Amino acid sequence: MSTSLSNLAPIPELYVSAESAQKLKVEAGDLPSWDLNPRQICDLELLMNGGFYPLKGFLGEEDYNGVVEDMRLADGTLWPIPITLDVTEDFAEKLELGQDIALRDQEGVILAILSVTDRWVPNKVREAEKVFGADDLAHPAVNYLHHTAGKVYLGGPITGIQPPTHYDFRSRRDTPNELRAYFRKLGWRRIVAFQTRNPLHRAHQELTFRAAKEAQANLLIHPVVGMTKPGDVDHFTRVRCYEAVLDKYPQSTTTMSLLNLAMRMAGPREAVWHGLIRRNHGCTHFIVGRDHAGPGKNSAGEDFYGPYDAQELFRQHQDEIGLEMVDFKHMVYVQERAQYEPADEIEEGVTVLNISGTELRRRLAEGLEIPEWFSFPEVVSELRKTKPPRSQQGFTVFFTGLSGSGKSTIANALMVKLMEMGGRPVTLLDGDVVRKHLSSELGFSKEHRDINIRRIGYVASEITKNGGIAICAPIAPYTATRRAVREMIEQYGAFCEVHVATPLEECERRDRKGLYKLAREGKIKEFTGISDPYEAPETPELCVDTTGVDVDNCAHQVILKLESMGLIAGN
Ligand code: PPS
Repeated sequence: MSTSLSNLAPIPELYVSAESAQKLKVEAGDLPSWDLNPRQICDLELLMNGGFYPLKGFLGEEDYNGVVEDMRLADGTLWPIPITLDVTEDFAEKLELGQDIALRDQEGVILAILSVTDRWVPNKVREAEKVFGADDLAHPAVNYLHHTAGKVYLGGPITGIQPPTHYDFRSRRDTPNELRAYFRKLGWRRIVAFQTRNPLHRAHQELTFRAAKEAQANLLIHPVVGMTKPGDVDHFTRVRCYEAVLDKYPQSTTTMSLLNLAMRMAGPREAVWHGLIRRNHGCTHFIVGRDHAGPGKNSAGEDFYGPYDAQELFRQHQDEIGLEMVDFKHMVYVQERAQYEPADEIEEGVTVLNISGTELRRRLAEGLEIPEWFSFPEVVSELRKTKPPRSQQGFTVFFTGLSGSGKSTIANALMVKLMEMGGRPVTLLDGDVVRKHLSSELGFSKEHRDINIRRIGYVASEITKNGGIAICAPIAPYTATRRAVREMIEQYGAFCEVHVATPLEECERRDRKGLYKLAREGKIKEFTGISDPYEAPETPELCVDTTGVDVDNCAHQVILKLESMGLIAGN
């Protein structure tokens, strides 16, 4: 492969001059507008700044078919991933071919104009099978294709007006031309890029060191901060982790830049795509490791792609991609030699240590030790800050049950016990209190009850996200709404559903507020248990019946449950 300066010459962008942009922006105000979603914003940014060179816009139908079937644009150029603008049927119907549309970011700022040359309804099953290897919803991009992407695709050239604004890590973000200029300035001719969507641990450092040595190249750490696999460590934490280890690399031959790419987790095809993108960013070499951009297991519990399929496909297309692959086997730690080595080069009889991603997450969740041979203390400390052990994370206890079942009383007792323990702020969202402060305009129809519960769920999810304990005590009679609340909260922390299953007869016998009497007389309508349904939870975390049991005992049962869920621990 040549190491001429061609990799450092400027690459074409799709932006117009600042003056024309100003004019176009005013004119575009009258055009039909499409509000881009986060993935489309990522794609547009890389189209406009040359990251997706030679694409000049969102793919038209002929290019799309070629990419899906053979990884090639209509003119034969290698391009493995369809970069398409998916929209709703309603929006697509109103358009004429040949028309310009304004592409706006989520605040309504016009970023580009698309001249619509193509509009078609794609065969998504075919796209899933060819591009991602299977029409299986366990693949995040296939799930996106079927459940998030619009039904219709629009294609056509883009006129770039301005890049999307980023408020975070601005000095670490570079366009392809900025990186090329930087490499030129430093006199770097050979650059090996390292793609990552994970925090860097010692294995990665060793791998990147070896790659740079092998290729006799400078090193570009090029992490993706656009969209990665759902459930990954968020990019804010990751970038802080990268910054913490950057000084462990030789400064004169290593740099880091953030890439606003929306990954598709397409394994082999994705590796080829990543290579093209790094070539566009001025690199000459690219590291492809084990299971590059792998999406995990399919719905049958098997890997979507073989561990070295990505290396294989990359190798076949290396010349066309225009940079050289530095391939690596899985790196593992050899205890006897106190160093990382490629798994396939290790003789039998030595002690090999390895901590998988799942094991790392478990250790973080339980606050267990993460050994020095595995990662750097700075990285572990960043990860622990974002993901403290469960016993320091926020959570929600959600009581549900009939009026008068004892929810509020147990909830109050639980609150006091948790406050006695200290450590996390506790908020009680009791049914009556919420109705006074949050939902005073609502009645007791199914629709209003659902709105009420979703509001409680939203507040509890914010409390949980911010490390507090939310105790909710509404009737919450509907299973589907309780499930929705659970989903809202489980993104951020644990959800403990407690069914206060005191029977109706007992609640009515107590009738502490005199409401059952009124409900029987028909003076209160839609009264839960009397003239309105209550769907009992089938699998709550805990079920308590207050008949003949004192409140303290019930609250203590909840404490024991929380302890068994790992939410309460000794200091
Ligand atoms: S819901 O279904 O979850 O939105 O109900 P919630 O917000 O918990 O409100 C229940 C309290 O409102 C009083 N109340 C009624 N309950 C049920 N049905 C009807 N029609 C009704 N009208 C008023 C009642 O005091 C409930 O309080 P608790 O603490 O549950 O006894």
